[in-house]
Formats: sequence, C-alpha cells, structure tokens
Amino acid sequence: MEEKDTFSIYSAPIQGLTELPWRHFHRAVYGDGVTAYHTPFLRVERSEVRQRDVKALESEMNASVPLVPQLILRDVREMEMLVDKVTGAGYDRIDINMGCPFPPQVHHGRGAGMIARRDLLEALGDEMRNHYPDVKFSLKMRLGVDSPDEWREAIEPINRMSLVRLTVHPRTARQQYSGELHMGEFGELLKVSAHPVVYNGDILEPSDIFRIREAYPTVEGVMVGRGLFSRPSIVAEWREERAWDERTRAERMLQLHSLLYDYYTERVSGDGQLMGKLKPFWDYLEGVDRRTLKMMKKAVTIRKYDEAVAAIERDLLG
Ligand SMILES: Cc1cc2nc3c(=O)[nH]c(=O)nc-3n(C[C@H](O)[C@H](O)[C@H](O)COP(=O)(O)O)c2cc1C
Repeated sequence: MEEKDTFSIYSAPIQGLTELPWRHFHRAVYGDGVTAYHTPFLRVERSEVRQRDVKALESEMNASVPLVPQLILRDVREMEMLVDKVTGAGYDRIDINMGCPFPPQVHHGRGAGMIARRDLLEALGDEMRNHYPDVKFSLKMRLGVDSPDEWREAIEPINRMSLVRLTVHPRTARQQYSGELHMGEFGELLKVSAHPVVYNGDILEPSDIFRIREAYPTVEGVMVGRGLFSRPSIVAEWREERAWDERTRAERMLQLHSLLYDYYTERVSGDGQLMGKLKPFWDYLEGVDRRTLKMMKKAVTIRKYDEAVAAIERDLLG
C-alpha cells in the first residue's frame, strides 16, 4: 500500500467535461484517490483571458480538490498574461499544453504546434526560471505532429526547463485520440527525460494502471482522461485493489450524474444550453443498449433527456 501511495494518478484536462462541478462532485462521490485534477486549458482570446475561466478558478468549490490549471499559449506574452491570472487566483501549479491536436491551434503554434518550436521552448524555459521561480510548472505533450519521433528535437529545451513533471500522450497530433500508441518511442523518451514522466493514453480499467506501472517502473504515475467518464470509479477501484461490482459502479455513476443535473438545472437556463452542458457527460458511456445511446444523442429537450437517463438506468440497473 505504501508503495502505491507514491504513484500519482491525475485526472486529464478535457474541454467541456473536467470543469468545476464535475471535479467537485467526482471527488465527493469517489473520494480522494485522484492525486490532482487538471482544468481544461485556459487561453487568450481576443487579447484577453476569459473572465469566466478566472472566476471558475476562484470558486470555493475548488477547495476540496487538488487542482492544476492548464494553459495553452503560443508565445511568452500569452504565457505571462495567463500565468499572472492563474497565480493571481492563488495557484502555484500550472500545466502547459503541448499536445492539443486541433489544426487551428497547431497552425498558430499552440498545443502540439509547440513541439517544433525550439526557440519558443527555450524562451519559455527562461521565463520559468527568471520570472516565475515559485511556480511549479508541468508540461503535457504528444510525441509529434505528423511523426512520433518529432519529440527528439524538442527534448533538450524541455529538459532544461524547470518542470515538476512531463506528461506524455504517445500519439501524434495527426492521430487525434485514437490509433496506435507508440510505446517504443514512449520508452525512449522516458529514458532521456530529465523530469519525472507521467503516462497518458487509453487507461480504461484499473488493470491498465497496473499494466503501465509494471511495464514502466520509473514512471511517476498515470493520467486518466476518458476512462474517468466511461468508468468514473477507476481510480477508487485501483486504490482499493478490488473491482467494484457492476451494480455499485452504475449506482455511483448515476449519483454523480444526478448531482451534475441538479447543479446545471439550477444555473443554466434554456433546454439548449442545458443539453450542451449535460449530454457530453454520457459520451463515453458503456454497457447500455445502442437505442439508449441514440435516445441520448437525439435529446434536445429536458423531457427527452430525462427519458434517455431513465433508459440508461433501466439498462444498467435492470
Ligand atoms: C473532447 C476532448 C477534449 C480535450 N481537452 C483537452 C485539454 O483542454 N487539454 C489537454 O491537455 N488535453 C485535452 N484533451 C486530451 C486529454 O487530456 C488526454 O490527453 C487524451 O484524451 C488521452 O487520454 P485518455 O485516453 O485517457 O482519454 C482532450 C481530449 C478530448 C477527447
């Protein structure tokens, strides 16, 4: 058990999903097994940092959750704007996104577009050392944009940065979120990284956490994204070293969804907006009838949504 405590499990940033209420309620329902949660990336939009993102960081609901705000940026100026807002909101841990695969971001040199930008990486390293010596920075990266060996050009400036960890999703940006995981390249990167490395990608069951740990004993931990939505109990089950029965898993998941439902129905007006908030939480749902998934996909009113949730309950609980 003691050995396990030193192994970290992070919740990955996912736009639209790992927002304030989910982080709070996930921890309330499943306990404190997640070492830290990441916010979806904050960015500069029309020369400003969105005020509602800063407000969300300042919310008291974060108090129960160890939180790492994540930033996406393309130059030192954007870094300063964002870091100043985040530290101003009281945080001293910041993750930088070097993996976002979306072409508009990559073309602007953000996210995975940073991998080829040695000069920028050097400049960010200088900035970390000279201007923000008290901030604990981390970096979350992919292996490349088109080819899984592009990280080799970036690793020197990355090694010179002062980072508390380097999270690696071993795919290219071109692959987006599916296809082969380039584990050979991941193993090579792990060998030469000057920073503790966290593995991220396709961790869907507690056994996947054991598997990664066994194959790569030097990793600091793993980061779980979609697996926390298809199986929100994954970390609790891993920590307890026992798989929960399907009924318990379903009951807790429905409890989490009902907390999110109450939260958003109290705050969001109009069925359209509400659907936009609630439906994505079912995107990675498993174990239900295809017709049920279709019902959920097609729901545009709260009445139809409620019917789809009732069908999910029937499928999962009988
Ligand atoms: C819809 C969606 C939104 C995402 N948003 C972010 C983000 O804001 N920042 C980030 O670093 N990664 C983001 N990711 C990537 C995840 O953090 C993670 O690296 C990826 O899903 C692989 O991990 P997984 O297989 O455990 O899900 C996103 C992924 C998806 C599917």
